[in-house]
Amino acid sequence: MTAERPVLSPEEVWRRYDAMEARLTAPLSERMLELARVAPGQRVLDLATGRGEPAVGAARRVGPGGSVLGIDVSEPMLAMARDRARAEGLGNLELKTMDAAALDVPDASFDAVLVRWGLMYLAAPVEALLAARRALKPGGIFVAAVWSEPERVPYFTLPRKVLAQFRAVPPNDLTVPGTFFYADPLRLRRDLGAAGFEVEHEEELALPVMEAHSDAELVAWARAFGLTRLLNELPEATQRAWEDAFAREARPLWQDGVVRLGGVTRIVVARPLDR
Ligand SMILES: C[S@@+](CC[C@H](N)C(=O)[O-])C[C@H]1O[C@@H](n2cnc3c(N)ncnc32)[C@H](O)[C@@H]1O
Repeated sequence: MTAERPVLSPEEVWRRYDAMEARLTAPLSERMLELARVAPGQRVLDLATGRGEPAVGAARRVGPGGSVLGIDVSEPMLAMARDRARAEGLGNLELKTMDAAALDVPDASFDAVLVRWGLMYLAAPVEALLAARRALKPGGIFVAAVWSEPERVPYFTLPRKVLAQFRAVPPNDLTVPGTFFYADPLRLRRDLGAAGFEVEHEEELALPVMEAHSDAELVAWARAFGLTRLLNELPEATQRAWEDAFAREARPLWQDGVVRLGGVTRIVVARPLDR
């Protein structure tokens, strides 16, 4: 018998977990803004901004004399970003529905272009990088954050590794757009080069994307983020067996009553080569 479990829409999932993820991943956004040297008065473009990361922090930094444009293809995600901008009273943050590979912005108009956890999901990343380069002012700066190798990203791999004990799980295909498309640093360097960028700096940051205070919270999070369908196809007893096994596997990660899952992110800073 297949159990009927509630299936949350992506928007419902994000409404539930947005504040937690924004809080836990704030150090990454801050570090990207620092590396991009975002300063008062500047104009900043955030590609694939989703719920407004790192656009919201950029808007705070550039202040009323500067402005930020955040673009994304998902209107529901942008609606959440607009709610955040309104709640924070940010009048200098504009959020538009736009494909990163078909940027409709004036050439040479941005001091910095940012993209946090976005490049690897794009269907046409080199086109997006070419468009980003055109959008940058001479001397402008590009900063991207991408996930590293699957074995260093347990938030994604751990629940799936446990699930593989119970059913076939789609393998991590590193050759198609997805979480690990830029796990190989050489691929990102190659695509940046193809788009006319030179890599200036690379660093890694380990950070959690979720935290839970009970096994039930941990399991609910993992179910919501990507495993809903794969789990719901299984009989109820098998689902429960996965929940128990996953909670057991995560046991060593608990500290002071909290369990956190995350991974290692690579941050890349690049400059346009002379045109
Ligand atoms: C993992 S989310 C990252 C969102 C945000 N930057 C963050 O760090 O929280 C990836 C985002 O890429 C967006 N996206 C996917 N393809 C896109 C495209 N071609 N152009 C613009 N955004 C795109 C998705 O809609 C989604 O919001």
